[in-house]
Amino acid sequence: MRRMRYDEPAAVAFRAGRHVPADGLAHWRAAVARHLAPRPGMALLDLGAGTGWWAQLFTAWYGVQVVAVEPSAAMRARARAPRLVAGRADALPLAAGSLDAAWLSTVVHHLADLPAAAAELRRVLRPGAPVLLRSVFAGRADQITLLRFFPEAIRLVDDTYPQAATVRAVFAADGFTAAAGEAVTQVSAPSLAAVLDGLDRDAHTPLRLIDDDAYAAGLTRLRTAATATGPVIDTMDLLVLR
Ligand SMILES: C[S@@+](CC[C@H](N)C(=O)[O-])C[C@H]1O[C@@H](n2cnc3c(N)ncnc32)[C@H](O)[C@@H]1O
Repeated sequence: MRRMRYDEPAAVAFRAGRHVPADGLAHWRAAVARHLAPRPGMALLDLGAGTGWWAQLFTAWYGVQVVAVEPSAAMRARARAPRLVAGRADALPLAAGSLDAAWLSTVVHHLADLPAAAAELRRVLRPGAPVLLRSVFAGRADQITLLRFFPEAIRLVDDTYPQAATVRAVFAADGFTAAAGEAVTQVSAPSLAAVLDGLDRDAHTPLRLIDDDAYAAGLTRLRTAATATGPVIDTMDLLVLR
């Protein structure tokens, strides 16, 4: 795919617009707990941690020791995380067998060399440790309310993001097997009006990559629909590999 650069504008927009409020993430909290079986002191890698939102949540929710790895200097500059390290998925700055779990939230579609990332995760994780991927996989973008206003963005995801099956197959080469896959809902915003109010194109890879006319047309559709009341509920996939 054409990959988005997490430069200054993207990092500013991401920090301002992509943190789902913690009280909308109850299902994620429960689903991750089921697969992670967290215990205090457990060492968890948050790979492609961005601005550290999940690193903060996992620290607060589970009391685990999070090491956040993030390649973008602009994202790191805005990140809050207990331990934050510069690094990339294909060359992790971490010792072999040093981690009990890995978390990748909306990262896998950014990885240019997925086999190298899988090999690195195999190296740094202890045997049997889970990799938990939270993602919008190809074929699943229509589960995101915002993207339904931008059909070109849904097509872009379908055409350029990996399918869950592809990720499973790549990781299988390094001995990972799929332990679970489930759809998890979240309350992304209190209303469509709030989505519109907080919308910054730079914060959403598929919106950044469609052309300007397609973006403008979707924005018009969103403005028309934004009088609807009720929370915005989205579904993303959790894939667990061990
Ligand atoms: C959509 S953001 C997700 C951030 C965070 N995981 C979250 O859910 O809030 C994608 C992140 O992946 C990072 N990323 C891109 N390429 C990467 C790579 N090769 N290795 C690790 N992270 C990468 C980006 O810099 C960006 O911070």
